[in-house]
Amino acid sequence: MSARRIDGKAFAEGLRARIANEVAALKAAHGVVPGLAAVLVGDDPASQVYVRNKTSQTREAGMASFEHRLPASTSEAALIALVGQLGHDPAVDGILVQLPLPGHIDSTKVIAAIDPAKDVDGLSTVNVGRLWSGLDALVPCTPLGCIMLLKDALKDAGAGALVGREAVVIGRSALVGKPIAALLLAEHCTVTIAHSRTRDLPAVARRADILIAAVGKPEMVRGDWIKPGATVIDVGINRLPKPDGKSRLVGDVAFAEAVEVAGAITPVPGGVGPMTVACLLHNTLTACRRRRGLVAGA
Ligand SMILES: NC(=O)c1ccc[n+]([C@@H]2O[C@H](COP(=O)([O-])OP(=O)(O)OC[C@H]3O[C@@H](n4cnc5c(N)ncnc54)[C@H](OP(=O)(O)O)[C@@H]3O)[C@@H](O)[C@H]2O)c1
Repeated sequence: MSARRIDGKAFAEGLRARIANEVAALKAAHGVVPGLAAVLVGDDPASQVYVRNKTSQTREAGMASFEHRLPASTSEAALIALVGQLGHDPAVDGILVQLPLPGHIDSTKVIAAIDPAKDVDGLSTVNVGRLWSGLDALVPCTPLGCIMLLKDALKDAGAGALVGREAVVIGRSALVGKPIAALLLAEHCTVTIAHSRTRDLPAVARRADILIAAVGKPEMVRGDWIKPGATVIDVGINRLPKPDGKSRLVGDVAFAEAVEVAGAITPVPGGVGPMTVACLLHNTLTACRRRRGLVAGA
């Protein structure tokens, strides 16, 4: 058996196109253009690429993009002041502070300064609390993308496709593992969160109808950890050196083994990765509507 590949690139393209249509309709009906402010501190090359991608995809979706590039020497107080100003700016619906921040800045203080109604990364304690309380929340983008892919992969099983399924999430970070677990719980899965201290992880993983790997360890999840027919979502992005001096991306799942056992699986690259920015746009549109009391489709 060879598992069905879950094409995150195609799904993300479709999602971005739907968002662009909704942005155009919002502008036509209400004269409203959703705006996303991206704040980048310092010159970390990977962060520069992420922010450039986010900015260009925001513009392609017809939204306004405001970029704030600050030197690495920026003080914590100055960054918090900027985030506060953006909170009061009516043209800004979403605020994204690119992480990681330079070592002298406490990211928890900066995140706490973001207006929760504009917290499109879903990292503020208000949004985390609302998510776990089952209330409307802005949800972290990568976890949201995982759930969208999962629902789409299982859609043939009907509306309640996730209900009652055994889900195992490997990884308990605030950014990925915990919010994915909360979203799976909200879909009525029976959820186990595994981590570095979990005993007999392969046996725990083998229970899963839905297995989410969010660890950051290349190809850690082997084929014999997977229940036959399971749906596997690989969040990991790991860069491995190649003999020619270049590098290749692999996930947290040993894809060649897993694809022989799973029912459906996300590849790396081309699985979860492209969903993150598409979900950032989704969250910005959601924040824009909620702040103005507009319902979806209006
Ligand atoms: N757009 C995207 O696709 C996207 C976005 C974000 C992250 N990622 C990728 O997703 C992966 C995870 O990211 P993250 O931010 O959640 O990483 P993280 O903060 O480093 O968390 C990793 C988690 O994995 C657990 N872990 C580490 N070694 C383990 C082991 N041997 N067995 C079981 N669990 C283990 C850790 O457990 P403890 O808590 O016990 O230490 C921790 O909870 C990374 O590869 C990252 O690059 C991708």
